[in-house]
Amino acid sequence: MSPATSHPPFRVLFSHDQILRRCAELARELRRVLGDEPPCLVQVIEGARPFARLMQQQLAGALPVHEVRAKSYEGTQSTGQVKVSPLGALQDGASVKDQHVVLLEDIVDTGRTIAALREHFLAAGAKSVRVASLLSKPSRRVVEVEVEHVGFEIPDEFVIGFGMDLDGRYRELRDVVVYEASIEREFAGAAERD
Ligand code: IMP
Repeated sequence: MSPATSHPPFRVLFSHDQILRRCAELARELRRVLGDEPPCLVQVIEGARPFARLMQQQLAGALPVHEVRAKSYEGTQSTGQVKVSPLGALQDGASVKDQHVVLLEDIVDTGRTIAALREHFLAAGAKSVRVASLLSKPSRRVVEVEVEHVGFEIPDEFVIGFGMDLDGRYRELRDVVVYEASIEREFAGAAERD
């Protein structure tokens, strides 16, 4: 018998519908605090793409979403170092000078990525930097950072889906699910036996 889905049956933490509803609330919150001044939206790629797209849709003004690339994870482990390339610069060469930057992140874990990017943008002349993150794992913080807008706080579990990956895999899942190697192994074994 072939498996019912094309991916292992990981435990769903937040369904796609829950994510959509929460993002609509976050966008309302952001609109309230931002007022009339259009923000400079910056997504941390790759993981924040689906979240950033939703926020872009919900914030008025057809705002562009700029991109910055950062990486701090190998597999399910934080390396303790944030690789930002090119050093905090927006991929399209846009400037954050005199802008109110809203950093859109998939998940804040140790806080290092957000801390590094916030510092970089302020040094580059941004008027302010706010962070909106779909998820946050407060128990994992190493660096004290303020995350002004959080979709959901989660315990110390490695999650995938809705843009978040394990070495490039599972980003395409619609829900946010908890990664478990044993579930993945069982699923692969069952598929091999079919
Ligand atoms: P931080 O610098 O430790 O806060 O790490 C933030 C980055 O680590 C996120 O942008 C993700 O790329 C990655 N990350 C942290 N936790 C997870 C997780 O549970 N699943 C997938 N990626 C994660």
